[in-house]
Amino acid sequence: MTRPAARPYAIIFSTATLDGRIASSTQYSMLSCSYDLARLRLLRGAAEAVMVGASTVLVDNPSLRRRLNPSSSKYYRVVVDGKLRLHEELRLISEPDPPVILFTAVHDNEKVERLEARGVHVHVVGENGIVDLVKAMEILAVEYGIERLLIEGGGILNYSMLRAGLVDEIRVTYTPYIFAAGRSVVEDPGATGFTTTSQSPRLRLLCLEKCPCGNCVHVAYRVESTCCPPATSPYAEPCLSEKIAALVKEAIRGST
Ligand SMILES: NC(=O)c1ccc[n+]([C@@H]2O[C@H](COP(=O)([O-])OP(=O)(O)OC[C@H]3O[C@@H](n4cnc5c(N)ncnc54)[C@H](OP(=O)(O)O)[C@@H]3O)[C@@H](O)[C@H]2O)c1
Repeated sequence: MTRPAARPYAIIFSTATLDGRIASSTQYSMLSCSYDLARLRLLRGAAEAVMVGASTVLVDNPSLRRRLNPSSSKYYRVVVDGKLRLHEELRLISEPDPPVILFTAVHDNEKVERLEARGVHVHVVGENGIVDLVKAMEILAVEYGIERLLIEGGGILNYSMLRAGLVDEIRVTYTPYIFAAGRSVVEDPGATGFTTTSQSPRLRLLCLEKCPCGNCVHVAYRVESTCCPPATSPYAEPCLSEKIAALVKEAIRGST
């Protein structure tokens, strides 16, 4: 594995069906209960950057803005967009604050200029549409001072980051649904994946807890087979249910 000179501590967070799908065959992905949304926003609040793949942006058009209990005012939205498919109508581009960092592997000067005119920080790292994620992590750590990164999917980005040994923790909330097709939490577009248990990333259970909604389960695993140590130690407590139950209760009290 290639090693970056420095890299953030990176957590993958996904919300999945019982059969491990984050989206159905029609790309439907609305799986979170209100507690799970609080969990996601709390993890965003503890990070200095959130990262998604280009397909998630094109399908969901998210803003990725909402955070709970932010630990720092520094907050970037990062997109891995190998073929530079993002366009100006998307919320990430049309709503420029907090700033967007985009990694691509396509040399399209005209499009890069258009995106930069909208305030997007574009970095061309890699070749033939494949972003060099090791280099990307180094840029986040060294140029932007990002020590804590939340990876919000989708499955292909999760796979690319895991394959490169750049993920420290995987957190999945399992919801009481089954899609039986669609995108998995970790998805190899080459359809090979990790072929044996010895090829799989090495994982150690950190937390297993019932969601306060009573019908979902949240698990957190530490990845022990990373490429190299991250810039910082773990930044989120393993189990968060008590904290999110209190936050949601407080929000309900505040709205009545
Ligand atoms: N339930 C959940 O928690 C959750 C979370 C997020 C997303 N989703 C759902 O998941 C679906 C999208 O997931 P997905 O797996 O299809 O896509 P994705 O991971 O969001 O994006 C895949 C794209 O990211 C780019 N990419 C990733 N790694 C790269 C690399 N190393 N180099 C270059 N480009 C790279 C590529 O873009 P190019 O093709 O441009 O090269 C690739 O096609 C959507 O339906 C979304 O709603 C669900």
